[in-house]
Amino acid sequence: MAILSIENLSKIYDHKIHALNNIFLSINKGEVFALLGPNGAGKTTLINIICGLTNKTTGTITVNGYDTVDQCRQTRKLISLVPQELHLDPFITVAQTCIDARGFFGKKYNEKLLTDILKQLSLWDKRDEKVQKLSGGMKRRVLIAKALMNEPQILFLDEPTAGVDVELRTSMWNLVRKLKEKGTTIILTTHYIEEAEEMADTIGIINDGHITTVAPKEDLMKELGSKELIITLMTKIQKIPDALHTYALSLSEDGYEITYEYKKTTSTSITAILSSLKNEGLKVCDIETKESSLEEIFVDLISNPKNLISHS
Ligand SMILES: Nc1ncnc2c1ncn2[C@@H]1O[C@H](COP(=O)(O)OP(=O)(O)OP(=O)(O)O)[C@@H](O)[C@H]1O
Ligand SMILES: [Mg+2]
Repeated sequence: MAILSIENLSKIYDHKIHALNNIFLSINKGEVFALLGPNGAGKTTLINIICGLTNKTTGTITVNGYDTVDQCRQTRKLISLVPQELHLDPFITVAQTCIDARGFFGKKYNEKLLTDILKQLSLWDKRDEKVQKLSGGMKRRVLIAKALMNEPQILFLDEPTAGVDVELRTSMWNLVRKLKEKGTTIILTTHYIEEAEEMADTIGIINDGHITTVAPKEDLMKELGSKELIITLMTKIQKIPDALHTYALSLSEDGYEITYEYKKTTSTSITAILSSLKNEGLKVCDIETKESSLEEIFVDLISNPKNLISHS
């Protein structure tokens, strides 16, 4: 069931910058959705419009059936955002920041929730520190804690791990998994493809204000991913033997390595290639396979829009 529905959304800044163009998007309850796209693609604009921080130019957005403009009081209760920019009141303590955030959402003080969230984000020892004394990574944890104080049904994370250390990144991933288990829908933007690969159920790609692809991560990796078989020969050759011309093989400059690139979905005939090599009297010294990562697929999708597998 869709918890978030976006129809024909556009945003034009200052009558000239088309930040979003006719976006249609539907996100299911409990899904982890990763929005990927280069700098300036429109990710923050999209998230900020859904969260009511930026006005849209045209279109309709509903959260749990409520319109985010006409019924914003209902929708804001369901949503929390961990913003890309660090903005926090430097003069109040970590605990007070969280308590105020819950009050801001119009919800009652809940000591157990506060304790759980602070402990989960390793902020318990810092609870009485003023925010200004914290490091950048700690401040990011406070932003996450603030967002969780709303016990949101949808959590938006805009570049949640930009500039944080490996430990916080891993603990963020664990936190997202726990929230997902509780049924929270999570929508995140990231420049770390590894993060999307790790966490997302669905990947959306946005480029220049257009959503160009929305697909389950597994499908994206299976349909667009490729594998390479690298065969190292004992002795170098000048050219690929004619008998092997039915396969799309390439030979390295030094004449020692033959590479065979194939789609994951096609049935491959590695044994046939190897036996043809043997028939040609070529001795193999090593065989290696390499799978393309989501990163390679992503770069390919941004530079070759013809490869897109679904449009909206
Ligand atoms: N307040 C604003 N006024 C005018 N133009 C804006 C404003 N905010 C964003 N833009 C423009 O809208 C476009 C989309 O910006 P946005 O911040 O949404 O991109 P992004 O995908 O979040 O990028 P990044 O990966 O760098 O965070 C850019 O061209 C940007 O310059
Ligand atoms: Mg952004």
